[in-house]
Amino acid sequence: MKVGIIIGSVREGRVSDRVANWVLKQAQEMEGVEPFIIDLKDYTMPFFDEAMSPQYNPGRSSKPEVQKFLDVMSDIDSLVLVTPEYNRSYSAVLKNALDYIDFQLKQKPVQLVAHGSTGGAQAVSHLRAVLPGLAAITNPTAVMITDRAGEIIDEDGKLAQEHIDNPYGYQATLKNALADLKWYSDALAAARKQSKDS
Ligand SMILES: Cc1cc2nc3c(=O)[nH]c(=O)nc-3n(C[C@H](O)[C@H](O)[C@H](O)COP(=O)(O)O)c2cc1C
Repeated sequence: MKVGIIIGSVREGRVSDRVANWVLKQAQEMEGVEPFIIDLKDYTMPFFDEAMSPQYNPGRSSKPEVQKFLDVMSDIDSLVLVTPEYNRSYSAVLKNALDYIDFQLKQKPVQLVAHGSTGGAQAVSHLRAVLPGLAAITNPTAVMITDRAGEIIDEDGKLAQEHIDNPYGYQATLKNALADLKWYSDALAAARKQSKDS
């Protein structure tokens, strides 16, 4: 499973990069998983400005920085969205990136990993409403960090030991969520291949 991990914040001093590094470390320990970070800072896409809705524009030609992002989305088998909660929702930079996608995530699973004072609950809930628009499948289990992520995860993505030791804590939730993601990813990849071959 090739899994892209999007950092849903480009803010100076952000902490979503720490959360993404934590996910990366955990995914690197799984067999058959090729995880990598997708930093939206490396994709300086303008606010969506194409003349037509991407899904209704089959002959679409996008700007190079957008195409670069779409090529990565085509290449992955599954996606992790690490999102902060901004004003009771997920970040605008993430929405903008998602709006560029046409069918690159169709029938692919997405794992939500959110943080904020309520664990990013509203960011998660809003993403669950948006992702069907891209024909993506959302893992029922979301990872939601209610602690201040910057205080419990270091820059390298190392989670504080007390949370690793908690059998019902963040580490256990992430591990189970990524196992689920792989299950969906393998099942959906096989089904996509079968329908392509038949
Ligand atoms: C513009 C803005 C709005 C925010 N709104 C919320 C909010 O509605 N709910 C919440 O729990 N946290 C909110 N926060 C706190 C962020 O979730 C928290 O600062 C988080 O670390 C931001 O992620 P980042 O550091 O990766 O950008 C807000 C932060 C910012 C910058």
